[in-house]
Amino acid sequence: MEQTFAVIKPDAFAAGHAGKILARIYEAGFSVVGLKKIWLSETQAGGFYHVHQDKPFFSDLTSFMSSGPCLVMVLEAPDAILKWREMMGATDPAAAAAGTLRKDFGTSIGRNATHGSDAAETAAFEINYFFAGLELI
Ligand code: CMP
Repeated sequence: MEQTFAVIKPDAFAAGHAGKILARIYEAGFSVVGLKKIWLSETQAGGFYHVHQDKPFFSDLTSFMSSGPCLVMVLEAPDAILKWREMMGATDPAAAAAGTLRKDFGTSIGRNATHGSDAAETAAFEINYFFAGLELI
């Protein structure tokens, strides 16, 4: 079993897509071992995305991620990191395959509906950034 960190971002949450995305997560066979609704500050969003701090889109990214509530989750399954990334599709919804979450619910590369860890080390950092051990059931 492997765990990954996932976010239903403010665009998808505000558009009312959280329930549909959660249904697809359960249908795909993930266990949701952590789940909460949060509203990040810009500073908290910057800490989460610190690896992108030198990128030109960093301030757009932190501003968007702090623009409203989102759902943060820890998902568990065999090969959870890859499985969740495949479900999300390409970062840019315009390039994402049919049937992926970003194709169905994203509207631009910045407003792409969902986030997922890209590797085991990032998953460990991201899970610990948002969840205490006692919150993972
Ligand atoms: P995510 O998987 O959450 O990880 C970093 C995010 O940065 C990414 O999704 C995109 O939403 C965002 N991002 C990546 N490239 C760009 C870009 N060129 N312009 C705006 N946002 C971007």
